[in-house]
Amino acid sequence: MTTSIPAQALENMAATYGTPVYVYHAEKIKEQFARLQNAFNKETTTFFYAAKALTNINILRYINHIGCNVDCSSVNEVQLALHAGFEPHRVLYTSNNISFEEIITAKELGVHINIDSLSNLKKFGERFGHSYPVGVRIRPNIMAGGNLKISTGHEDSKFGVPLEQVQEIIDLIKTTNLHIKTLHIHTGSEIKDVAVFAKGLNVLFEIVQEFSEVEVIDLGGGFKVPYKPNEAGTDIEELGRSVNMAFAQYNQTHNRQLKAWFEPGKFLVSEAGYFITKVNVLKENATRNFAGVDTGLNHLIRPMFYGAYHEIINLTNGDAPHKKYNVVGNICETDNFAEDRSLPEVREGDLLVFKNAGAYCFEMASNYNSRYKPAEVLWLNNQAQLIRKRDDMDDLLRNQVTAQF
Ligand code: LLP
Repeated sequence: MTTSIPAQALENMAATYGTPVYVYHAEKIKEQFARLQNAFNKETTTFFYAAKALTNINILRYINHIGCNVDCSSVNEVQLALHAGFEPHRVLYTSNNISFEEIITAKELGVHINIDSLSNLKKFGERFGHSYPVGVRIRPNIMAGGNLKISTGHEDSKFGVPLEQVQEIIDLIKTTNLHIKTLHIHTGSEIKDVAVFAKGLNVLFEIVQEFSEVEVIDLGGGFKVPYKPNEAGTDIEELGRSVNMAFAQYNQTHNRQLKAWFEPGKFLVSEAGYFITKVNVLKENATRNFAGVDTGLNHLIRPMFYGAYHEIINLTNGDAPHKKYNVVGNICETDNFAEDRSLPEVREGDLLVFKNAGAYCFEMASNYNSRYKPAEVLWLNNQAQLIRKRDDMDDLLRNQVTAQF
């Protein structure tokens, strides 16, 4: 089952809203959520959409509408989630290296909190004792994820409390009466191998014996989605079977009722996104054909930042014979989207669409070169709705204060 937006609809949206423009396919998000729900035991598994992937308030509202919970990475995301209509008990805040004041704010908002340092755990215990259950993020010392920038569980990683310091958490429970409800890990993004999740789970099953009040094992996000044609993502159905079985066995053997939480970002929204751009300029030289589009790394940084691959479609000349192109942006430094990419012949004015543009694309966009951030459009029930206006000059000047001289 693959849900996608028809080419003509994408072309119409480019005509209506201009380019570059991000388009998100609501039903694809719903389909991905259904896949998760079907793969995992509903009684014991809860999903929290990692909002950081895409925080347009309408996407958050839609995630709420389809019944998925939300995971936040800043107190501002928590506020956005509440604004989008999530009740506090359906909001999780997985923080890292934040101030204690921010943790207090999250507590006052009544959401679930995962704390990732001994320092903040100690302050929390001393201040609130047993009155407010929290989670603790463990660094399981597992290397995983698509590249080092998005690997978060290894021995050199800044995230969480290192496994070798677990005894110190146990000591804090004794000295401050801290109420630890959740053990959390997130080892990275784009983890294809189901065995990595099983390994992380085993690490937590080992130590959870020491935490009698823990009710939840939170395995974070990181499911890989396909980016290239015919590429495989994480086998969600297999992962579901393995996690379901591991929890059932553990709970039975140890007479506990541990629940599983996950925080998928890319899995829910990556493939729902399309970034439509227009070719401004073609340049040919001895070694390369350049197709210069009306956007750059300011709007889609993943290829330059992570070496990420985004499939590109020539929307308006798809049947033409293929040639190789460097698809490049209009920013004042090298901003390749693709090198030596075989595409149906590209003409000036053609529309090129980047796929997998739902997760960490608009969300990581900036106004570099004083370009406007693109518009965002939701495609739902075969209809387009504008969900963010393209920036204008007022947005570039907003918050700037005129100095006297
Ligand atoms: N939970 C926590 C605690 C996280 O830090 C993240 C992602 C997730 C869940 C969701 O991971 P996902 O399911 O989306 O892989 N900007 C990078 C990805 C950074 C991920 C950061 N944390 C990219 O564009 O590839």
